[in-house]
This record gives sequence, structure tokens and C-alpha cells, in this order.
Amino acid sequence: MQGASSGLERRLNTAIQSAAQLLSAASAVVCLTGAGVSAESGVPTFRDAQTGLWRRYQPEELASPQGFARNPGLVWRWYMWRLSLVEEAQPNAGHQALAALAHRVHDWTLVTQNVDSLHEEAGSPTVLHLHGSLMHFRCDECHHTHELLPAEREAEHPPLCRLCGGLVRPDVVWFGEALPRRALEQAVHAAQHCHVMLVVGTSGLVYPAAQLPQLAKEAGAALIDVNPQPGPLARLADVQLRGPSGKVLPHLLSALLSSKEP
Ligand code: OAD
Repeated sequence: MQGASSGLERRLNTAIQSAAQLLSAASAVVCLTGAGVSAESGVPTFRDAQTGLWRRYQPEELASPQGFARNPGLVWRWYMWRLSLVEEAQPNAGHQALAALAHRVHDWTLVTQNVDSLHEEAGSPTVLHLHGSLMHFRCDECHHTHELLPAEREAEHPPLCRLCGGLVRPDVVWFGEALPRRALEQAVHAAQHCHVMLVVGTSGLVYPAAQLPQLAKEAGAALIDVNPQPGPLARLADVQLRGPSGKVLPHLLSALLSSKEP
């Protein structure tokens, strides 16, 4: 048994060295993250077999405009629960390693599908949020920004917009909705101009975010996939780092730093 696990460790270490070499030669790097990067902070992913949110809840009821129209109170309470979860969470070693990488790569772009703010809390300078933010709210009708009051967090129903009286909703992207245009344009441009794309903790099943690694590959970038499980993106990957990002990314950072030492 020990032999098998040390074999796996050896393979991971070799792959980490290859990934560090790719990063060290690259001046433009894009990192695309998904729910897996926050898993070790205690924020549940969507599709993991035992713990994923979409194993326990119906996305069409909780993350679609139709679901909100049918039962706004249910949707509101679910997002207030998720907000309290992410507010209690702390960035993990994976978020921290990515923040450190941002300062070591000349042209670094971090794109996330996550609606938490753990990348920012770890010190990542700029983050393109493709799916919005759990911490921001807006009117479903007139789109006016809504500042959440403490009492509204405990409410059974969403608050009403102070401008038009419409229902207030979390400023996240639901199924069937368009992504924030500017963030998506910036992400696509960065993907098409990077030398390396680091993909961390995403199942690669949700488009258009899942298109970004394909765009990067088509433009000639090398792809590094960090995920304990191989998914659809694995076949595109030049280097696969099979392990939790909270463990793999700090090792990758150390390997990069030692490869850059004179
Ligand atoms: P998923 O739940 O689909 O995938 C999470 C991925 O993280 C899986 O590939 C896991 O194997 C991996 N993973 C689990 N633990 C990990 C760890 N410790 N380190 C690294 N990877 C780990 O989440 P996303 O791909 O982010 O959209 O899902 C994409 C979108 O689907 C979400 O943004 C959300 C969801 O519906 C909206 O809400 C609009």
C-alpha cells in the first residue's frame, strides 16, 4: 500500500516540476477557478458525489429566473444560507498560493466562476467574476443595486427595491442568464493571449466558462489542470496535477520559486 501511494506522490511531484517549468517560461498566464478551489475552505462544490449542492438541491428551483418567479422566498432563504456559509469561510492555502503567483507572473489574469470572495480575501489583486457575487444584490426588475440590511438577511421573503418596488435578488448568474459582458470579454481576450492556462477545481461542464480552456488551447497555450478527479478538461491538459488545490498549489508555488532562483 505504501508503495502505491508513494508512487502517486512521485508522479505528482514530477508533474508539479513540469508545471513549474511551463509557468516559469510564461509571461502571460490565465488561471480559471471553480468551486473546487474553495472546497477546502468548507464551501460545498456543486457536483461532487457526496457533498455537491446539486446532489441535494434542484438547480432549476434555486438557480433560475423561473424558480425565483415561482418561489422567491425559498430562493432568498437558500442564498442567505449560502451567504452565511461563505462569510464564515477563510481562504485556504490554494487561494493564498494563487495570490502569491499573481505577484510573480508578469501578466496574470484570475478568472473565477465562484461567487465567494475568497480569492480577494487571500490577496489576489484583480479577479474577473464570471458568475457574479453572493455578496451583492440588485433589483430583479430595474437592476438597481441593493444594500442589504441586517434584518433582510433573516427575512422569509426577498426585500423590495427602494426605487421601483421590484423583488431584490442576489447578483449572481442563474441558468439561462447571460454572463456579465465585460468580465466575459476580458476573460476571452486573456484566454486567447496567454501562454499558460492554469485550471483549478472546475468540472468544466458549465459554458461559456468551460470554453475558456479550449480557446486557450486553440491559441497555442499549454494547459495545467489541478483537480483530484479527471473531468472533461483533462484530455486538453498538458500537465495534470491530481490532488486537492490546497495541497498542490503551494507545492507548485515553491517549485516555481526554486526554479527562478539564480
Ligand atoms: P463543480 O461542482 O461542477 O465542480 C467542482 C470541481 O472541483 C470538480 O471537478 C471536483 O473534482 C473539484 N474538486 C473538489 N474538491 C477539490 C479540491 N479540494 N481541489 C481542487 N478541486 C476540487 O463546480 P464548478 O465547475 O465551479 O454556476 O461549477 C461551475 C458552475 O456550475 C458554478 O459556477 C455554478 C454551478 O451551477 C452557477 O451557479 C451559475
